[in-house]
Amino acid sequence: MARLRVGILISGRGSNMRALIDAARDPGYPAEIAIVVSNVAGAGGLAVASAAGIKTATVDHKAFAGREAFELALDATLREADVGLVCLAGFMRLLTAGFVGKWHDRMLNIHPSLLPAFPGLDTHARALAEGVKIAGCTVHFVRPKMDAGPIVGQAAVPVLPDDDEAALAARILAAEHALYPAALRLVASGQARVIGEKVQIGSGTPAAAMLLNPPVD
Ligand code: GAR
Repeated sequence: MARLRVGILISGRGSNMRALIDAARDPGYPAEIAIVVSNVAGAGGLAVASAAGIKTATVDHKAFAGREAFELALDATLREADVGLVCLAGFMRLLTAGFVGKWHDRMLNIHPSLLPAFPGLDTHARALAEGVKIAGCTVHFVRPKMDAGPIVGQAAVPVLPDDDEAALAARILAAEHALYPAALRLVASGQARVIGEKVQIGSGTPAAAMLLNPPVD
């Protein structure tokens, strides 16, 4: 079966991008990474992608007169690469409803919280300030509202008593690297589909029973 051609949008170091590239090295994986596009010239992830033999492009938002012109160029770059699905991976630029509409049900995002809790920036600091005991990350289909949309999957991690922002972020990031390839696999294989603004998963895999923190004997 033909593999789904995926374009990854990044702004920074691209560790989630790398997790997706690594997963797609397996010829049995249902997606292939066609292109990595950054809105930041010299973003660390671009070199990582190039070293992995992936085509890269920079569409620098600062080089355009406005958001619309920037997004037209971004869209053209993705279409030239014959992309069927877009994965946002640390892409730190808000996208307009116009762009999001063009990729409706064909664009995923990863966010480092258990949405709908803590959308936006400073997620880890806010989670610590609230004293939550379980944190995590979410992969969801993108809608015009920031960090919202049908949820494909979530991974949960405990918040430990001595956690600072860096420790919690690192624990969540490790979960992100497991979740994003798994979520993309479900979407690219057609097992995860948006029905009535919720994602239905076709596989019969049972979920883990529960995650308790603090643990109970
Ligand atoms: C990741 O933690 C990702 O979830 C977050 O940025 C980081 C990018 O790291 N994204 C957002 O906060 C989007 N709202 P990476 O470049 O190493 O993948």
